[in-house]
Amino acid sequence: MATISAPHRHLLGIASLATEEIEALLETADGFVDLNRRSDKKLALLRGLTQINLFFESSTRTRTSFELAGKRLGADVVNMSVGASAIKKGETLIDTAMTLNAMHPDVLVVRHHDSGAVALLARHVRCAVINAGDGTHEHPTQALLDALTIRRRRGRIAGLTVAICGDIAHSRVARSNILLLTRLGARVRLVAPPTLLPPGMGPQYGVELFHDMRAGLEGADIVMMLRLQSERMQGSFVPSLREYFRFFGLTWEKLASARPDALIMHPGPMNRGVEIDGVVADDIDRSAILDQVEMGVAVRMACLDHLTRHLREAA
Ligand code: CP
Repeated sequence: MATISAPHRHLLGIASLATEEIEALLETADGFVDLNRRSDKKLALLRGLTQINLFFESSTRTRTSFELAGKRLGADVVNMSVGASAIKKGETLIDTAMTLNAMHPDVLVVRHHDSGAVALLARHVRCAVINAGDGTHEHPTQALLDALTIRRRRGRIAGLTVAICGDIAHSRVARSNILLLTRLGARVRLVAPPTLLPPGMGPQYGVELFHDMRAGLEGADIVMMLRLQSERMQGSFVPSLREYFRFFGLTWEKLASARPDALIMHPGPMNRGVEIDGVVADDIDRSAILDQVEMGVAVRMACLDHLTRHLREAA
């Protein structure tokens, strides 16, 4: 089975993964789903290894699932609190990285508000670094968990039509998903007002663009909603939240354009009544939102497993 190869000692983005590496990670993660449903969820694969979670931005799903993933595989997991760290006293990102490196961690899981910051940090440490989301750049483990969710619910990814809707311009989730889903053979549509699409985005990236929800959702198998990422916006991108919901919020009425069994996805956190109607999000037959959370733990276990295999083989 393929594993993340030597140049990919870090997992910084989907762009740097080969297709067979993506498939190997999904295959491994699929196996961990069953483990996570058992009462005894512990393995010793990472026993003796140290994982540090370093989150410069808030997180519920990613940070918690990385912590659970490391602990379920037997690692010693440290959650560094940035708010209570020397970063608050002016220490730079690189000094922080080198300080942590001196403590001999085996894996650093890093989220940062600046695109490229995680790759920069990775150049100053000797351990594996996993990008847990950097600015508007990439969120690779989110795209992997989304792919695993689709694969388990639909049995395949190739040939499916996936509509990614909302604030594409500020979304690292959209970027990683575009890269991953097109690579695995899905037809990807981006549905957003022109102000929320990245400049230059179009067919050269293997995607179709839509500015109308009903047209963009026509015949879609998967409807992936994104929130307005106001923390990364400078200025106003929509006239009002009420108007945004009217034209781009997912309601049963707009969803009727998609396939009758279309799956609803959202990476979270959700803003109910802004990009999605709460009753649509909560529909247990159509919504895969909590499946995505569950798959997140399994995918992060697979990433930790693959990135540390060379250490176990060397031991
Ligand atoms: N989807 C996601 O990254 O959620 P968190 O911000 O809660 O980690």
